[in-house]
Amino acid sequence: MKNYKIAIIAGDGTGPEVVQEGLKVLAAASQKFDFKYQTHAYDFGGERYLRTKEVLPDSAIGELKTFNAIYLGAIGHPDVKPGILEKGILLRLRFDLDQYINLRPVELYDERFCPLKNKKPEDINFTVVRENSEGLYKGLGEFQNKGTANEVAIQISHNTRKGVERCIRYAFEYTRKHGKKKKLTLCGKTNVLTFAFDLWERTFNEIAKEYTDITTDYAHVDATTMWFVKNPEWFDVIVTDNMFGDIITDLGAMIQGGMGIAAGGNINPEGVSMFEPIGGSAPKYTGKNVINPLAAIAAIAMLLRQVGEDKAGNAVETAVKTVLRTKLKDLAAGKMGYSTTQVGDLVVKEL
Ligand code: IPM
Ligand code: MN
Repeated sequence: MKNYKIAIIAGDGTGPEVVQEGLKVLAAASQKFDFKYQTHAYDFGGERYLRTKEVLPDSAIGELKTFNAIYLGAIGHPDVKPGILEKGILLRLRFDLDQYINLRPVELYDERFCPLKNKKPEDINFTVVRENSEGLYKGLGEFQNKGTANEVAIQISHNTRKGVERCIRYAFEYTRKHGKKKKLTLCGKTNVLTFAFDLWERTFNEIAKEYTDITTDYAHVDATTMWFVKNPEWFDVIVTDNMFGDIITDLGAMIQGGMGIAAGGNINPEGVSMFEPIGGSAPKYTGKNVINPLAAIAAIAMLLRQVGEDKAGNAVETAVKTVLRTKLKDLAAGKMGYSTTQVGDLVVKEL
């Protein structure tokens, strides 16, 4: 029997509450689909930082590399200055574990939850492949004359041929395997960012020659956001850089019904990957048992598929879909008609 080692970083705010529901579903899936797993919980997050002044212990990266997957709740604490935990934990893990893909499916499960007029589940079903290790997130830049009237703040987008190419290759492979229309769109800004997206576009066009079965397309990032709202049915798979991917996937989450349902995977195809609900720590709802755990449960579905338990992953996703369609009044925290734990129970029952 397969036996997986899964690291759990429940993190801050509502992270632990939604992770608990995800783990409930994981336990049920292991029963039903005959696999075993061990979990190891890490307490990284705001509380630990406030207590110890340590964001991430030095041993963390090495240890995490020994797992089959990482399950993350949320990082971000109201008493910690913005940036410390995000950079010190989330981005550090993405970078040091070389999770160079951020895979974010955007799928509308039920039209009741779509804020767009006349859009149906068949219209909103695409995936964003976000580069996850470079670009503006690399943190390159400097202040000049800080604090003076002549201050300059420089923030550089760092794009390497190797980094861009591995991301684009992943996107083509992903489109070939999972794309419904076998269409890959490069989202960029070639009309203004004439260094970064020149490299992206050249690389994209070169790699495209190896994938003649895939239709390719290009859209500027501003136009992409317009079409997410106007014609989301045009998209199948989208590949883009780290910053644009960050921005467009929040819009993606909204058109699929909100943060309560959006899950993502930080993927190192050759190493250890990390799965998370993309919604954040939601301090305002912490401890109230009202937050929607479906995004965290959907992240478990992605995790299962990544480790090779496709059947289990698909079954969890189907159970999420069914519960969402047949039970939930709304996907927003406090409006679901059920508590966080009840929603977890409903998914287990459905499974
Ligand atoms: C996300 C988040 C992170 C990001 C933050 C918390 C650093 O917004 O996962 O999209 O910008 O990547
Ligand atoms: Mn984001």
